[in-house]
Amino acid sequence: MEDLTRRRALSIGAILGLASVTSTPSAWSWSSAGSIAGTDTVTDPFQVWDPDADDVAARLLADGSIPSVNRAWDSWVRNKDALPSGMPGYLTEYLRGVNQLPSWADPELLAASEKLYKRLNSYLFVSESLGSGILSTVIPREARAVYWSAGGANMKDRAAKTFTFGYDLHSPTAWQPSGYFIVSANKTRLVHSVVRNLLVTSPRFMETADQPKPISNGDILVTFHSVATVAYDNMKKWGIKLSAKEEAADLHAWQVALHLLGVQRQFIPASWAEAHKQADQMLWPIVSPTVEGISLTKALLGYIEDATLGLTTGFVNEMVRYLIGDKCADWLGLPRDWVSRGLIQAAWPTYVAFREGLSPIVPDGIYLFDQFVRGVAMMFLNNGTSPTQTPITLPAANRPG
Ligand code: HEM
Repeated sequence: MEDLTRRRALSIGAILGLASVTSTPSAWSWSSAGSIAGTDTVTDPFQVWDPDADDVAARLLADGSIPSVNRAWDSWVRNKDALPSGMPGYLTEYLRGVNQLPSWADPELLAASEKLYKRLNSYLFVSESLGSGILSTVIPREARAVYWSAGGANMKDRAAKTFTFGYDLHSPTAWQPSGYFIVSANKTRLVHSVVRNLLVTSPRFMETADQPKPISNGDILVTFHSVATVAYDNMKKWGIKLSAKEEAADLHAWQVALHLLGVQRQFIPASWAEAHKQADQMLWPIVSPTVEGISLTKALLGYIEDATLGLTTGFVNEMVRYLIGDKCADWLGLPRDWVSRGLIQAAWPTYVAFREGLSPIVPDGIYLFDQFVRGVAMMFLNNGTSPTQTPITLPAANRPG
């Protein structure tokens, strides 16, 4: 990917008038009465990080253990796998404490989430890859953190690792002993902790940083909304029928996922209504373009187009526009394709209704949509966790340069 020199970044920023669109979020006012902790306090999640995991990560960096831990992690992939040997004792001890479901996890709801995701995974993959993947590039703190960390230099590999998380969560065996999700989530949590320790040493990242260290509990929630709350809304918009139990199961899977990522219970929303209140306060007011985000979008779109080979760039761009809205798409400079736009807008909801068996009307462009959905699903499937596929690993340094 093209490197972003400071001069170039400044000139693109000036052209886009970025300074004028970057907004400051208002003071945090969501009460944890709406959280799974149910305590009525107002604590700013953007000032809370993950101290225990961050300390472990600091020690791993200090004693040079990252490469050996990554080697040890190769064989540690399934929920039932014993913790691997070859890791420092303090890491093993930390993982022993966190590599398990919380006491409040509800096995029945988790099992229901596996069934739900099996039914919906192709739509979820569309929403989460093209929609949330690109939306993440207009979340300024996330775009900058991703760009300036090691993974930012190889977005294809980084996107593959991130899709591993989505694939493992939406797998029909996500929470079972043979599933992968609990391990993937714990690895991700430690990646974030290592990144918190590393990025503060990156002069380029710190130039625009507005927090003492990145990836606070609040930032993780922002990403959660950009993925899960947006997917929930898309399912509704596309006319997909969800029972009350399925909605609860979807939320619960994410509640446990957030816990495994180190988010405190006082911030984890207890209902979809509370999730929407949070998203209205923490996600939508802060979306805006950054030079780093624009650069990441280009790399991500290239990756997605490879996977949906055979579909025109115009179609993929318009699918992104459909998912993230024209305002964000314009910021990212996505070109228009009015023919694809017309087709998608008119036929995608009909396509979903037809494939869900809710309507007998065969939509225009059915083969195009089938090909698209299959391409996106394959992209996720190819990145499911297995010892031979893109493993989640700890970075040992920032992006060079
Ligand atoms: C790494 C998922 C929130 C920044 C990762 C990885 C996954 C992941 C699976 C490991 C794969 C990889 O190395 O790319 C998630 C999920 C989130 C979340 C599910 C919330 C629900 C965030 C936020 C930020 C962030 C809020 C920044 C503000 C990063 C960075 C990396 C990373 C910089 C490391 C990339 C590297 O290896 O250099 N994340 N993430 N993430 N994440 Fe997140």
